[in-house]
Parts: sequence; C-alpha cells; structure tokens
Amino acid sequence: METYTVTVEPIGAEIECREDQTVLDACLREGIWLPHACTHGTCGTCKAQVLDGELDLGDASPYALLDSERDEGAALLCVATPRSDVTIEGEVDVEAGVEVHPVRDYTGTVVGLEDIAPTVRRVRLELDRPIPFNPGQYVQLSTPAGETRPYSLAVAPADATTIELHVKRSPDGAATEGWIFKDLAVGDAVPVSGPYGQFFLRPARDEPILMLAGGTGLAPMKAMLRHIEDLDSGHEVVLYHGVPTAADLYEHEWLQEFAAAHGWFTYRPALSQEEFEGRTGRVPAMLAEDYPRASGNVAYICGSPAFVRDTMKALMKARLFPRDIYREDFFDSADRAAGSTVVRSPLIRR
Ligand SMILES: Cc1cc2nc3c(=O)[nH]c(=O)nc-3n(C[C@H](O)[C@H](O)[C@H](O)COP(=O)(O)OP(=O)(O)OC[C@H]3O[C@@H](n4cnc5c(N)ncnc54)[C@H](O)[C@@H]3O)c2cc1C
Ligand code: FES
Repeated sequence: METYTVTVEPIGAEIECREDQTVLDACLREGIWLPHACTHGTCGTCKAQVLDGELDLGDASPYALLDSERDEGAALLCVATPRSDVTIEGEVDVEAGVEVHPVRDYTGTVVGLEDIAPTVRRVRLELDRPIPFNPGQYVQLSTPAGETRPYSLAVAPADATTIELHVKRSPDGAATEGWIFKDLAVGDAVPVSGPYGQFFLRPARDEPILMLAGGTGLAPMKAMLRHIEDLDSGHEVVLYHGVPTAADLYEHEWLQEFAAAHGWFTYRPALSQEEFEGRTGRVPAMLAEDYPRASGNVAYICGSPAFVRDTMKALMKARLFPRDIYREDFFDSADRAAGSTVVRSPLIRR
C-alpha cells in the first residue's frame, strides 16, 4: 500500500496519507481541523483547491462538486484519496476556545438496544476506551457491508466510555432496516470512529440558547444538555422537539423531569399532526409565533435537511443571522440522490 505526503497550505503542515485513506481523514487524525460536515461527499463543506499533485476524487456528489469545479482543480477532501504527493489549500478552522479532538478508531460492544419510539432505536455501545469529543459531534459506525454511517453522540463527554445513539429507521435503509433494526444484537462488536463534525456546543457564548431538533436530531441536543448540566454554566435553554405525533416523542419523560429539575431549561414538544398542550404545528411555525424577534439568542438546529432549511428560514425571518446559528443536517442516500443537499453560502455555519 502506497503512502503519500499531503501538504496543507497555508499552514504548511505535512502529513502522511495512505492511498486508500481520504485526505480529510488523514488530517483529522493529525488534529488538523479542516471544515467538514457530512464526511460522505454530499454537502460540499470540505471543498478545497488542489495546488499540486493528483487526487482520486472518489464518490463526490456531482451536486456538491460541479464539473466546472473539478476542471478547476477542486476536490471534496472527505472522499478524495491521494495518487501522488499532493498540496492542498485548506481553510484550517480552529475557533478560539474550541478543543480539537483527533479522530481515532474504537471497538464498541453493543450493550443495549431499545425501541424508544415507533421508528427510533436507542443503541448503547461500550467502547474499548473513552472517546474525547465536544458535545454535539458524531461518530461513524462501520456496517457489516463495509459502509460507514454517521450517528450523533447522545451522551455528555463526561460519560464517554458507554455511548448512546438514537437511530431512526429508514424504509429500505441499508444500515437501519438492513442491520441496526434487523440483525444487530447485544454483544456484537462494531467498529466506531470519531469524533467528527463542527456542530457542537460553544460554551463560551453566553447568549440564551435555542435548541431546535427534528426527530432524532434530539441526540446531539441531549449531549449538549447533559454537558451544560455538568458545567453548571447558567446558560438558559429552550428546546423545541418536532415530531409528527405524541407517540413519536421520545425522551419525553426525561425531558419533562430535566425541565422540572432545572429552572434554566424549557421543553416544548412540537407535534405536526396532533395537539400538545393546546398547540399544534411544526417547529418553524411555533418559532415564528414565539419569537417574532430571535436576535440575541444563539441557535442549534439538527434534523433532516428539510427541517434544518425550514427552521433556518424561520430564524432568519426573525432576524437571527448565520453567525448565531449552528446546524447539522442528517443527510442520507435519498437526500444525496436528490442533490438538494448543498449549502452554498459560506456564511452558514456547519
Ligand atoms: C452528520 C450526520 C449525523 C447523523 N446522525 C444521525 C443520528 O444521530 N440519528 C439518525 O437516525 N440518523 C443520523 N444521520 C443519518 C444516518 O447517518 C443515515 O443516513 C440514516 O440512518 C440512513 O441510513 P441507511 O443506511 O439505513 O439508509 P440508506 O441506505 O442511506 O437510505 C436512506 C433512504 O434513502 C433511500 N435511498 C437509498 N438510495 C437511494 C437512491 N439512490 N435514491 C433515492 N432514495 C434512495 C432508502 O430507501 C432509504 O429510505 C446522520 C447523518 C449525518 C450526515
Ligand atoms: S464533508 Fe465533504 S462533502 Fe460534506
């Protein structure tokens, strides 16, 4: 197996990258924090210019990397692998006060599988050692078919040996219907890598927090809530959880108890198909009612790309702008095939 040298400009860092390894993976394992979100060639966040040398562009979505961009020497680093020594120009992205945790490989033993809503399964994995991460980040599971799938960590960094994931069943989904909801059993060993992603709590920001979760987009919010509790930081948090019906509300009792125990936390279920405490509607509509002006808050949005897009629009209408909004889109193969996944504004945080 060949190994090549990747030089990352403008910082001039030189790292080794195997021919079967993506450039992003090699950089994240060395603690070089390049922009990324989906890590599957879908969103375009990791796009970078190749200054010298040859990359195999891999499985880059044609929507995320246009033919014209390929012709001009751009690549999606999360799917590109080296074919020679290469030099890339990356936007090394370290925010003040944010700790960078290099990606590592772990083995997770399944210690719990629990159906917590009609289409959601809680998966608990005991890792061979603790995983350091920022609350909100995700891990990749390797499936028996040799594919990887991202899932957000739903535990606080302080509880980082036994991790918890919230997995939604996708009709005909290769990893979910084909494995996690089918053959996966307690005692199985699962390859896990991480942490990934730039969607995580910024504790240094002291504005009130709006957490806006669609479905299993609740997972990273749970990690952040637990962490805020551990920090005892005094942040005020309002969480909206959008699901179709009351039966789809999971962690409902825990969230109610958490709200009763912590004066700083407010929990608002948003049911699109039923009434809940006299209200009904999707999260963006509820936000529009509750926050005619949202400026002065910081928002974290997570869920399907459609949920994130609509919630983002509602916040921007209420005059909360991209510098105050963090987002995680749960892209899947259908989103990728539809090509509606690319966020082109560099102002929008990932
Ligand atoms: C950063 C990130 C974090 C995530 N975190 C979570 C999480 O915490 N919890 C969670 O539940 N999910 C999460 N996801 C989504 C998750 O990674 C998987 O995409 C999801 O579980 C579906 O995987 P699958 O293999 O079962 O489905 P896939 O096989 O990927 O298919 C998904 C759907 O698309 C359809 N489909 C497949 N191929 C095509 C095609 N070519 N054209 C049209 N339709 C197609 C399938 O029938 C299925 O309904 C996250 C995604 C990202 C990017
Ligand atoms: S992180 Fe590379 S395309 Fe999304």
